[in-house]
Amino acid sequence: MANQLLKGKRGVIFGALDGNSIATKIAERCIEEGASIVLTNAPVALRMGEIQKIGERLGAQVIAADATSVEDLENLFDQSMEILGGKLDFVLHSIGMSLNVRKKRAYADVKYDWMQKTFDISAISFHKVMQVLYKKDAMTDWGSIVALTYIASQRVFPDYGEMAESKSLLESFARSFGYHFGKKNHVRVNTISQSPTMTTAGSGIKGFQEFFDYADKMSPLGNASAESCADYTIFMFSELSRMITMQNLYHDGGFSNMGMAPEVLA
Ligand SMILES: NC(=O)c1ccc[n+]([C@@H]2O[C@H](COP(=O)([O-])OP(=O)(O)OC[C@H]3O[C@@H](n4cnc5c(N)ncnc54)[C@H](O)[C@@H]3O)[C@@H](O)[C@H]2O)c1
Repeated sequence: MANQLLKGKRGVIFGALDGNSIATKIAERCIEEGASIVLTNAPVALRMGEIQKIGERLGAQVIAADATSVEDLENLFDQSMEILGGKLDFVLHSIGMSLNVRKKRAYADVKYDWMQKTFDISAISFHKVMQVLYKKDAMTDWGSIVALTYIASQRVFPDYGEMAESKSLLESFARSFGYHFGKKNHVRVNTISQSPTMTTAGSGIKGFQEFFDYADKMSPLGNASAESCADYTIFMFSELSRMITMQNLYHDGGFSNMGMAPEVLA
């Protein structure tokens, strides 16, 4: 299904951890569509090894960067522009991790230093990525920045814990920075709100399989897969979506507009 929609474009992809990561599917499609990319992840993720294999398979260099460290991000974008031979046309933020959820702390009993770390990793990192790109003037005119989010930012999903507020903050950063980047050089900033997806981050949520099945029944098209999320992200990176910015875009088979589905009661 390759149409060379990203021919000659350069991009940086955060968050490919293993073969299931949504970022890995997006990276694969970027290559199919003719882009050159750099893959990046936290140093600890690089030590786990799979990302190096993904990089080799895709012919992409892998650079370690903790997305909460401005210094790491500065180094990442300097190196990426050197490797890829110019400014960046697209950047994907596909990062999420909650310490309280991971350590099974109830929502009404969170540890606040963990909550702050969660916000830093899952949301403030997006502002940091954009601020570094902005100050370095590292994005081409009409470039595209996308972050992945989830509908728990807008509606209550109790087991999502403090990730709900992380995603609200992330979506708000997309709107606010979308203004500044749009005025600066027409760079677009959007979030894609994806269906539940079987990945390391996804399956960390309590009762994920049951929830996945529920969402699948609630959505008239069924849950959107990681592969279809990759297709949508390619569209968002391409010039076909050039007037879309500051949006939270649902990619969820219709789930977000449902009230009740008889299939769930059956
Ligand atoms: N899986 C789902 O059900 C689902 C649904 C909607 C949105 N999302 C979002 O999609 C994105 C990708 O998640 P995924 O489901 O592919 O899972 P994943 O676990 O494969 O990806 C999460 C990534 O975040 C990276 N990360 C964590 N801390 C980091 C740090 N300090 N610096 C840099 N990277 C760091 C991890 O190494 C990992 O690669 C996340 O934002 C997630 O919230 C997932």
